[in-house]
Amino acid sequence: MHITTVLLILSASSILAAPTANKPQPIQLPLQMIQTTKNHQLSKRSESLSLQLLEEIDLIQFFVKIQVGTPAQEFNMLFDTGSADTWVPSTECSAALGCPQPLKRFNSSASSTYKALKDPFVIQYAIGTASGTYFKEKVSFVNGNDEQLITIKDQTMAKVLNSAGPISDQKKDKDNDGIFIDGILGAGLPSGTVRHLNGVGEKYDTFPVSLYKANLIPDPVFSVSMNGMHGKLTLGAIDTEYVTDDFVYTSIANSSTSPSRWSIMVEGLQFSNKEVGTPKPFKFNTPTPCGVDTGSNFMYLPTQMANELAMDITNSTHLKKNDVGVYLVDCGLQKSQESVSIFFRAAAGNALQNITMPVSDLVTSKKEDGQCLLKFYPSDSSLTLGNMVLRKYVTVFDFGPYPHIGFAPVKY
Ligand SMILES: *[C@@H]1O[C@H](CO)[C@@H](O)[C@H](O)[C@H]1NC(C)=O
Ligand SMILES: *[C@@H]1O[C@H](CO)[C@@H](O)[C@H](O)[C@H]1NC(C)=O
Ligand SMILES: *[C@@H]1O[C@H](CO)[C@@H](O)[C@H](O)[C@H]1NC(C)=O
Ligand SMILES: *[C@@H]1O[C@H](CO)[C@@H](O)[C@H](O)[C@H]1NC(C)=O
Repeated sequence: MHITTVLLILSASSILAAPTANKPQPIQLPLQMIQTTKNHQLSKRSESLSLQLLEEIDLIQFFVKIQVGTPAQEFNMLFDTGSADTWVPSTECSAALGCPQPLKRFNSSASSTYKALKDPFVIQYAIGTASGTYFKEKVSFVNGNDEQLITIKDQTMAKVLNSAGPISDQKKDKDNDGIFIDGILGAGLPSGTVRHLNGVGEKYDTFPVSLYKANLIPDPVFSVSMNGMHGKLTLGAIDTEYVTDDFVYTSIANSSTSPSRWSIMVEGLQFSNKEVGTPKPFKFNTPTPCGVDTGSNFMYLPTQMANELAMDITNSTHLKKNDVGVYLVDCGLQKSQESVSIFFRAAAGNALQNITMPVSDLVTSKKEDGQCLLKFYPSDSSLTLGNMVLRKYVTVFDFGPYPHIGFAPVKY
């Protein structure tokens, strides 16, 4: 989930010192998939996209389970590299205030380890808002059997008293096979927390950084695999279980200062048509920041770029779009042998590198009428890689001294 606040980062760098004690083991957690086909209100950054018109696409979201407080209260948390703050609904938040019945709510009075913090929490997502108060608590990540795998004693997070948007809009009768996402786990960087961005309140570490600083994971890194049922979050290591190839790494944007987002600099895109032989030159004029956002669905491209890529893919200058601007294409493209490459500079050595995906991975069909759509969507604002693309890769997020992101294709 991309937050809309964009502010200068003036603070010191978030470079981390390596802990010296004995190295702990990495932790693997299931990243559970939830299909939001019927009423997939969880899709974000939808801009003018009217969701009903896309009703039949299988949009998915991935969540982790956490337990908060003593005794533990359990929540399903959207795993979101596009934001940095973590929140759960509070028992003080009623349905009228945006916390409908199926959501689990945190009762702070019932926890002996709860420590209230004074400053308020307010976050504005591209669609939706949440507000409440910060607190510190004991938080555990649990596996599918609700066994606690790792516990942070004193994590800063927020309880939400008021919420609007995708989380609030989940409905009991329609959604998600009876599974609901209760809150958001922001796996972003400390400089991207709203407290930091707004310069209010004590700075705090996001979950991955807290785990590393507490010496609970061996390395300042986590890996995300969203390969359907095998979805997995590996905390503290590079996960190679499902990859077919080497990782390609690129530095995150502003990595030399104090980066606030999981964002890479994309140098360009290229469409390769094997039949024609020569790939089309297809570049941005300037390197463009691109969010790597597990909490978004689509891939978002600047409008002109999206149009040009769609024209290349369809071999036509007459683009067909539905009412909300999603490209409609020939379903034959689901079998296309052509590919699209995304270029960026290597984290080490600065050479131009790419990840390449088959065009067939960029096409999806609607169940209702069999129409086919492209999985990228024109956006006025930023470039974003959402989970429809990311689930074809294992993605590594390294928050060490030289923060970088790596991609390797998943094997099926
Ligand atoms: C919250 O916990 C307190 C203390 O256990 C209890 O008295 C109260 O009824 C709970 N509130 C809700 C809304 O469950
Ligand atoms: C990088 O930093 C500059 C200046 O602080 C800021 O304007 C820009 O938005 C940042 N880029 C990204 C991708 O965060
Ligand atoms: C693209 O379209 C042109 C003209 O419509 C046609 O001549 C050409 O063969 C097409 N290329 C491919 C790869 O389909
Ligand atoms: C993308 O990178 C691979 C090596 O990782 C290279 O073999 C391939 O030619 C590159 N693709 C393009 C279109 O440049």
